[in-house]
Amino acid sequence: MPLPVRASGRMTADETQSRITILRGQTLGFRGDPCTVGPDAAVDFDSDGAVAIAGGKIVAVGRALDLIARHPDALLESYPDHLIMAGFIDSHVHYPQIDIIASWGEQLLQWLNKYTYPAEAKCADPAHAEATAHRFLDECLRNGITTASVYCTAHPTSVDAFCAAAQSRAFCMAAGKVMMDRNAPDAVKDTAQSGYEQSKALIARWHGVDRLTYAVTPRFAVTSSPAQLEAAGALWREHPTTLMQTHLSEHPSEIAWVKELHPGAPDYLGIYERHGLLGRGANFGHAIHLTAREAARLREAGAGLSHCPTSNLFIGSGLFDMRAARQGDAPILVGLATDVGGGSSFSMLATMKAAYEVGQLKGYSLHPADAFHLATVGGARVLQLGHRVGNLAAGFDADIVVLDLRSRPLIAQRMQQADSLWDALFIQMILADDRAVRATFVAGRKVYDRPIAA
Ligand code: GUN
Ligand code: ZN
Repeated sequence: MPLPVRASGRMTADETQSRITILRGQTLGFRGDPCTVGPDAAVDFDSDGAVAIAGGKIVAVGRALDLIARHPDALLESYPDHLIMAGFIDSHVHYPQIDIIASWGEQLLQWLNKYTYPAEAKCADPAHAEATAHRFLDECLRNGITTASVYCTAHPTSVDAFCAAAQSRAFCMAAGKVMMDRNAPDAVKDTAQSGYEQSKALIARWHGVDRLTYAVTPRFAVTSSPAQLEAAGALWREHPTTLMQTHLSEHPSEIAWVKELHPGAPDYLGIYERHGLLGRGANFGHAIHLTAREAARLREAGAGLSHCPTSNLFIGSGLFDMRAARQGDAPILVGLATDVGGGSSFSMLATMKAAYEVGQLKGYSLHPADAFHLATVGGARVLQLGHRVGNLAAGFDADIVVLDLRSRPLIAQRMQQADSLWDALFIQMILADDRAVRATFVAGRKVYDRPIAA
């Protein structure tokens, strides 16, 4: 058998782009949805697998010895006892809220007024927005998140800062300017007209540029007037390849206020529907307290949901019904999301744990196959990126996370008793966190390497 030319080590940018690199370890990908085909049929797992990457893409996934033999000149990075999988997709997060994560004592509407809007007001300053965007992206990498659907603030500068930061670091990201024209302080408000025009200009500037996707982002039905929702719907219609993201049925007090603000609508979703904001590529955050009509319309429309369990627990919003969303032959598209700063962690592993715990309180035990699928493939599908990211397969972008399966003594100890893949993955999602992230690759480049001391 031909031997690999060189063992692991730092690569130059040119080498990374042109030469094949092989990552060897335990590989995990998906060939189906565990919800519909069952966990065992859904998964592609190899205990001695490898991923060959070049030019920012995954060239091949297979048995380690086969790939090494096929590419004798490749650079080899070996990760024994590590899981190599697609980078996590955080399908709903607010980058300017990184500074108010873990803010005490309020539920949604008071939390927004007391903590969130003041933090977002600061993003009118381009220097603050730029520094915040880079800190946010650093945190993503530390947690193995390679794609996110990001809410910026109402200031176009906040989108420019975020998109420029993400572009300079080759991230695949979706982002949008929050549109909000009422029920909020002036410092974070736009108008129906300015929100439309600014968003349109941002679409022209950023949508489809490198690995960026624009998301039309009316914040929610509390802070957008009917005129603004109408303008957002028009904008989305005029730019059908963009995404649309908003919040839906998160907290009981919010839902009650929305009912007063939009009389005559059949329900919360009906407000968005009425303004052309329901369809494929729509991404509704939370969606906890849905009626049967809303669930049916979401399913029919091919819209996506972002389940934000740490946020729902932290803010006290309620318990998402995963079983209702995913049951049947045509489950609703669901991604997992941190919703920082309402969410209490950047870790998608911690987010999976919270999703499991929320499920338990609803009488539903989320299977680890489902959890890992939701955190990767599921999120990618919600963002209409399921053909490019979120899976470990030839032709996909080389956005990859390498997880240390024994990142702490307790985990190492517990792993000794693991008697199946599912047991091992469940141990990770319950016990592991950012300390398990050994390396993160974005577009084929290793951009995070866990410090040795960790
Ligand atoms: N609803 C409207 N805006 C927000 C926000 O920033 N975070 C959460 N969790 N819910 C919202
Ligand atoms: Zn949110």
